[in-house]
Amino acid sequence: MTPDLDERAAAILRANDRGGYTVPTAGLYPYQWNWDSGLAALGFAQFDLDRAWRELETLAEAAWPNGMWPHIVFRADDPDYFPGPSVWDAGGEAAFPSSGVSQPPVAISMARLLYERDPEFGRPRLAALMPKLLAWRDWFRRDRAGHGGAILITHPWESGRDNAPDWDAALANVSAEGVGPYTRRDTAHVDPAMRPTRAEYDRYIALVSWGRAAGWDTGRIAREGPFAVADPATTFILMRADRDLMALAEALGEAEAARRIAADLDRAGDAAAALWSDALGAYVARDERTGRQADCISSAAFLAWYGGMRDPNREGRLMTTLRAVLQAAPRALPSLDPRDPRFDARRYWRGPVWAFINWMVARGLAEAGHHAEAARLRADTRALIEGAGFCEYFDPTDGSGAGGREFSWTAAVWLAWASPAHEEG
Ligand code: DGY
Repeated sequence: MTPDLDERAAAILRANDRGGYTVPTAGLYPYQWNWDSGLAALGFAQFDLDRAWRELETLAEAAWPNGMWPHIVFRADDPDYFPGPSVWDAGGEAAFPSSGVSQPPVAISMARLLYERDPEFGRPRLAALMPKLLAWRDWFRRDRAGHGGAILITHPWESGRDNAPDWDAALANVSAEGVGPYTRRDTAHVDPAMRPTRAEYDRYIALVSWGRAAGWDTGRIAREGPFAVADPATTFILMRADRDLMALAEALGEAEAARRIAADLDRAGDAAAALWSDALGAYVARDERTGRQADCISSAAFLAWYGGMRDPNREGRLMTTLRAVLQAAPRALPSLDPRDPRFDARRYWRGPVWAFINWMVARGLAEAGHHAEAARLRADTRALIEGAGFCEYFDPTDGSGAGGREFSWTAAVWLAWASPAHEEG
């Protein structure tokens, strides 16, 4: 049965290929999304390394002059998606219209994976990409640095974890007054019970309007906009990206860039401290405007090991928290602690399991020597995909699939990790 699944996963990536870039899934997400694209590159790397590099290159083509890689690239207008290019009205000075926010820089770490698969083949591709990779991480450190150096998101979409309870309190402070009538398209593709609520969507649109009125000045939006929250996932994924980029800079002999990144990584412990909640025994989001920490344990907390955090006290407690969450979840890793009253098994980032988060968390755990927990995540990911197919996400209570179908990142994670074709985790 498994070779079939390997073939199906590769077929999904090919079917979602729009000619050098991959959509997350047809219909629901008809454009190139940033972190999805990074993961699509990981999937293509398992059978077509040239195509994998192409995925990163097309994403980089949309980079803004200020260094930011936007979270959606609009190469063609598709009326089936809202909000499209005319609503964002962003990316005017870049090669393509785009959204006006970024997304966690998973793609930077994928460049290292691709390069290490075949350094000789990858070297010229990497050398050409390097200035944009560096400019993007510099942009995060310049325009998205919050308290203690933790990384801010200025829109829930910038986290990729749109309706995580991490932002509930901060989003409640965003006024939705003045948002005119609009028609959501996402709920025409999937059951509204699996998607963000109308009240959340109104605020998402209000934040787009604010950014558009600010001319998409990304520094000003972080300083003055109605929403700025330090996100543990983006913070840890950027730490990881920095470590990977430092290795790549060294491989290319770019000593100055490597030194610049190392200096930022030296301060990473401060960022982690800003996000640590002693009460919860986990890293949590922090509202930059009010200084308040979020009161929930999300799967983002467990990306600490992936980010390279190795504080014996904090990570010791974090492991206790992880074990409790794993025990409470028939299928791991739920995006929200199932013991939380807000847990909603099928509603997007308020409970469901995401295969690519499992992969990143498990990588970090294995690197830190926590092999039993890493193995649990891999076994659960495999069972979920075998049972429900390549869904966008999965219900941790009964293992059923949810969200979009034939999803690129689930296919990629299968090929790169969850498939039994891989001996080791
Ligand atoms: C959506 O349209 O739901 C996306 O998550 C925005 O990035």
